[in-house]
Amino acid sequence: MIYTTRPSLPEYEDYCNLLRDLWDSRCVTNNGKFLLQFEDRLKDYLRVSNLISTNNGTNALMIALELLEMDEGDEVITTPFTFVATVSSIVWQRYRPVFADIDPHTFNISPESINEKISDRSKAILPVHVFGNPCDVESIDEIGKEHSLKIIYDASHTFGVRLLDKELYAYGNVSTLSFHATKVFHTIEGGAIIGPEKNLIDRARMISIFGMNDDDDRTINEVGINAKMNEFQAIMGLLNLKDLHERHSHREDLYNRYLNELNGLGLQFQQLSPDLLEYNYIYFPILLRDVKETEFLIEELKKAEILPKRYFYPLISDMEPFRIFYSDTPVASSVSKRIVCLPLHGSLSLEDQSKVIEIIRCNL
Ligand SMILES: Cc1ncc(COP(=O)(O)O)c(C=O)c1O
Repeated sequence: MIYTTRPSLPEYEDYCNLLRDLWDSRCVTNNGKFLLQFEDRLKDYLRVSNLISTNNGTNALMIALELLEMDEGDEVITTPFTFVATVSSIVWQRYRPVFADIDPHTFNISPESINEKISDRSKAILPVHVFGNPCDVESIDEIGKEHSLKIIYDASHTFGVRLLDKELYAYGNVSTLSFHATKVFHTIEGGAIIGPEKNLIDRARMISIFGMNDDDDRTINEVGINAKMNEFQAIMGLLNLKDLHERHSHREDLYNRYLNELNGLGLQFQQLSPDLLEYNYIYFPILLRDVKETEFLIEELKKAEILPKRYFYPLISDMEPFRIFYSDTPVASSVSKRIVCLPLHGSLSLEDQSKVIEIIRCNL
């Protein structure tokens, strides 16, 4: 089988060597030494000062939403073209998601559509940097300022992405990342919250440990949750931070090869932000002409034991629990029905990629 994503794993012996240390110390969670090392290295790598790790990206989003101190029923403008956790965390917090449409080329939330969705109850915007492609952060910033809206970026896909003039995570009140096993960088399950305001990220840490301070488990400052990353995850993270460079360049080669080899077949590719300094080549989405062609191609790929992913289909606003928040987003609806993400991961061989390319070339 050729999968769309596969977790990259460090050498088995390297993981076991660090586990030995863990066994001896018996300190397996609660801000252990590996977690502290991991957070320090992560801050260096991402060039940020304010960061906390979490046990997954969904809890990072939930805490980010908690930080903004909104009231039940307040509206959060977001995209329906995303993974379910972006929207379920809004609803779980008892806020109301309001769906804006996306740009047909970048697949990110459209600033014009955000403007159209603003109402008296709007309190925040929750854009997603879809497939690691940075949103139009300047325009979204202006909208936020003009209408006094808070901004949380779902930056789950952006590990290793950098902008030319300013760090990506300097935009918005907070950004959340996912380090799930299928991402370019992972800690098995995991995530992080990053933001320009130190106080806000300090508060995020407190909320992530039941509302306590790090050094005082008797005083509960506010209602919190348990979103701590454990030592097994932190060790995976420390080791996976090591050979990022090689994996990154392999992904870049695969990505560019797809672009060259699939050119001229009538496919649309994602338009990346012109402000990118570094991209992470996390997914390779292709947009087909219509639903029939999309479903036909998926079937042909499956017959050859290739498992592409329909990221993101169906739209969140078409999923049963979220239909009550439905609003018409024609571009997102059309893109969602025609998108396919092709296999792209650190251990995908050129030979396997050639198979994928050949099936596509023969069937379009
Ligand atoms: C856009 C987006 N948001 C949120 C999440 C949730 O992250 P996690 O799976 O780490 O909880 C994911 C991950 O899968 C995602 O792709």
